[in-house]
Amino acid sequence: GLSRKFSSSSSLNAIKTVTVVGGGLMGSGIAQVAAQAGQNVTIVDLQPEILNKAQKSIQNNLSRVGKKLFKDDTSKMESFVKESIDRIKLSTSIEEGANADLIIEAIIEKLEPKQELFNKLDKLSPEHTIFASNTSSISINEIGSGIKRKDRFGGLHFFNPVPVMRLLEIIKSDEMSGETYAAVMEWGRAVGKTCITCRDTPGFVVNRLLGPYSAEAMRLYERGDATKEDIDIGMKLGAGYPMGPFELADYTGLDTNKFVLQVLFEKTNNPVFQPIPLLDKMVAEGKLGVKSGEGFYKYKK
Ligand code: NAI
Repeated sequence: GLSRKFSSSSSLNAIKTVTVVGGGLMGSGIAQVAAQAGQNVTIVDLQPEILNKAQKSIQNNLSRVGKKLFKDDTSKMESFVKESIDRIKLSTSIEEGANADLIIEAIIEKLEPKQELFNKLDKLSPEHTIFASNTSSISINEIGSGIKRKDRFGGLHFFNPVPVMRLLEIIKSDEMSGETYAAVMEWGRAVGKTCITCRDTPGFVVNRLLGPYSAEAMRLYERGDATKEDIDIGMKLGAGYPMGPFELADYTGLDTNKFVLQVLFEKTNNPVFQPIPLLDKMVAEGKLGVKSGEGFYKYKK
């Protein structure tokens, strides 16, 4: 009835169209979960090849999801994949992505390109459009410092691989409005994530705590106090973690680990984030983890 319709006011402003800028590892995952949840999605990337790659990987992932969801019902599965894929538009032009309820930025991890992008979008997008950055290491307030819609801006920090990891960190910029916060919380739930909220502080929640943990694991190993295998077993069986710290570091990439530690050290001055000679050496040797075929462990390419 009518009263019901008007009682949940946030749903009246619900986010239904999303643009993801940057169609790489994170952007394609974000686009997938949104499309899967019934949202109309535009992926914008500078490179057409990246857009094609994103579409292919989304299609493959959706087929896997579809098989799980619909088991033996091939026609349902196929229509699930097709309908989700059909909701995704690909574009190399930011103008084509500007008209959405929510725009999530997942481009290169550098301040200036992110600021430039949002400053441009601020002029192109309708007034109601909410802007969000998926940055993991740059200050949300700094990224949005040049825009007028500071009340409609914040961080939406996803985890890799986006379709699998259930968490979404919602970063409240200093001037984010309650309405914007409610809208992104609702959107996060709608795309299947569990949301936690954090202020704009270095590393937010997860990386701020993972940093000292992985750094101390590497130091323990570097000093020869225990083998990496035993440290991994220790944290899996003793602390109940699904992966040990070296398995996790190899998976996320040692270059990324080094970068995250460096940023946290610069921003907090906490000595726990100081450079780790072993990590620096491995990165210099190109041992980046799973993606390069070798990190703390060896992988078949
Ligand atoms: P990626 O390198 O896989 O993708 C970035 C994409 O952005 C590339 O395809 C590039 O062509 C495109 N791009 C660069 N500048 C652009 C512009 N001005 N307009 C449109 N497209 C542009 O990088 P990834 O790993 O997906 O990271 C993206 C963002 O997500 C970064 O801010 C990163 O810090 C953050 N992030 C990454 C995580 C990870 O595990 N890799 C986890 C959480 C956040």
